[in-house]
Amino acid sequence: MARELLSSNAAKSVYRDGDLAIKVFCKGFPKSEVLNEALISARIEEIGGINIPATLAVAVEEDGCWSITKDFIEGKTLKQLIAEHPENLDDYLDKMVDLQLLIHSKSCPLLTRLKDKMARQISEISQLNPVSRYDLLTRLDCTPKHTKLCHGDFQPDNIIVKPDGTLYVLDWVHATQGNASADVARTYLLFCLENQETADRYMKLFCQKTGTDIRYVQQWLPLVAAAQLTKKRPEEADLLHKWLNVCEY
Ligand SMILES: Nc1ncnc2c1ncn2[C@@H]1O[C@H](COP(=O)(O)OP(=O)(O)OP(=O)(O)O)[C@@H](O)[C@H]1O
Ligand SMILES: [Mg+2]
Repeated sequence: MARELLSSNAAKSVYRDGDLAIKVFCKGFPKSEVLNEALISARIEEIGGINIPATLAVAVEEDGCWSITKDFIEGKTLKQLIAEHPENLDDYLDKMVDLQLLIHSKSCPLLTRLKDKMARQISEISQLNPVSRYDLLTRLDCTPKHTKLCHGDFQPDNIIVKPDGTLYVLDWVHATQGNASADVARTYLLFCLENQETADRYMKLFCQKTGTDIRYVQQWLPLVAAAQLTKKRPEEADLLHKWLNVCEY
C-alpha cells in the first residue's frame, strides 16, 4: 500500500502506511533530536495509563532521512472535530481538561525539568535586553518546584479521538516534569494564538475543575510568552510582547 501523507511542515512529514504512522524528518535534522523524541515517547509509554501511539521503530530511510514509526491511530484530531462541530466546543474542552489532569497526575522522574528548560530558553532570547532576561529568570526561580508530568504542547491538534471516543495524545517531544499551571499557561497561549474566546473558556474550565485561582496560572504567562519567543515566528511577536509587557518589573 502506498504511503498517504497526513501532515507536513518544513522539518518533517507524517505518513500513514497501513497500521503504521511514520514521521520522516528532513535531511540534516539533528539525529539527537530524533532520538530524543523517540526516547521521551518511550518513557511516557512505559509510565502507562495515558493512551499514546506505541513507538515501533527508529530508522534511516533509503534517502538518508531519519524516521520514527508508531501505531497509526484511527480517528480525527480534536482540532478537526472542533472545526466540524463548534456547537460541541464546551464538551470537547471538558474532555481535553480531564485528559490534561490525567497527564498531570503522573510523574516521570527522568524527564528534563520544565524550569531548567524554560531558563535555558529565556537565556537564549536575543530579542530581549539583558535586564528583562534577568528579571524573567528571577521570576522563574521564585516559582514552586513541582514534578508533575507536563506535555508541553497540549493542544487540540495533538489529540486524536478514536471513533469509539477514546482520546490519544501525540507529540510528546516537549514533555517535561514541572508545574501544572505552567503547562496550562502554555496551552492557554497556544489557544490565544488561534482564538481568544476559546482560550478564555479553556482557562475558566481548568480553574473551575481544579479550584485553581486564575492568578496562579496567570503568573506563568510572561514566562511562557518569553519561551515561545525562541521560535521566532513574526506573526506571534505582537501578542508575545504584549504579554511580556504585562509583567511587572
Ligand atoms: N500515530 C498517529 N496516528 C494517526 N495520526 C497521526 C499519528 N501521528 C501523527 N499523526 C498526524 O500527524 C499530525 C502531526 O503529528 P505530530 O504532532 O506528532 O507531528 P509534529 O511534527 O510535531 O507536527 P506539528 O508540529 O504539526 O505538531 C497529527 O496532528 C496527526 O494528524
Ligand atoms: Mg503536533
